[in-house]
Amino acid sequence: MGSSARTSTRGGRLRSAVNADVTLRAASADDIRAVAAIERASFGDPWSESAFDELLRSRSAIFLVATRGEEKSVAGYLIAFVFADEAEILNLAVTPAERGRGLGGELLDAGLEAVRKRGAREAFLEVRESNASALALYSSRGFSALSRRGKYYRNPVEDALVLRRVMEG
Ligand SMILES: CC(C)(COP(=O)(O)OP(=O)(O)OC[C@H]1O[C@@H](n2cnc3c(N)ncnc32)[C@H](O)[C@@H]1OP(=O)(O)O)[C@@H](O)C(=O)NCCC(=O)NCCS
Repeated sequence: MGSSARTSTRGGRLRSAVNADVTLRAASADDIRAVAAIERASFGDPWSESAFDELLRSRSAIFLVATRGEEKSVAGYLIAFVFADEAEILNLAVTPAERGRGLGGELLDAGLEAVRKRGAREAFLEVRESNASALALYSSRGFSALSRRGKYYRNPVEDALVLRRVMEG
């Protein structure tokens, strides 16, 4: 996977090799307000702050945030679950002003590396079929379409594509 070549560990945090001012780290309670604001800016049916709070306490969840620059404000996040040898990427978003600068790719690479380390052999996710930027990102990271879930999303109603990738190593 590209992630190990693209990131390095420093003091328990991941510093990106391609985005020198980006830091990836585990989310904490202090991040939830910023994460929920990005969520509301990104989705028509956003998760609530309490849903994110609950995920922080879940042992099965991997919850990463990306920060950029000296201010260290949260610019994106990823949440994944691992059940036995299967992982699900539950949520991924980058604040609108930061999109297209590599952060989504960094978060996805780090999330895939984290689920692989926890024993996942395959990763799954759902995505709106019209979400071209997310589909381009997932395809660039080796995901391909497995099936379709009819009218899976609300606001607006839309089918989901279920994507899958096999993890190496
Ligand atoms: C999807 C999302 C997370 C991508 O984050 P990002 O920081 O803009 O993505 P990146 O700049 O890291 O781009 C990653 C890859 O995706 C592709 N990509 C991203 N945006 C794209 C766009 N608008 N058009 C075409 N390709 C795009 C690029 O090819 C890039 O590949 P590379 O890493 O090999 O260069 C971001 O657009 C977002 O938050 N969208 C709203 C929330 C959302 O839809 N989340 C996904 C739910 S399933």
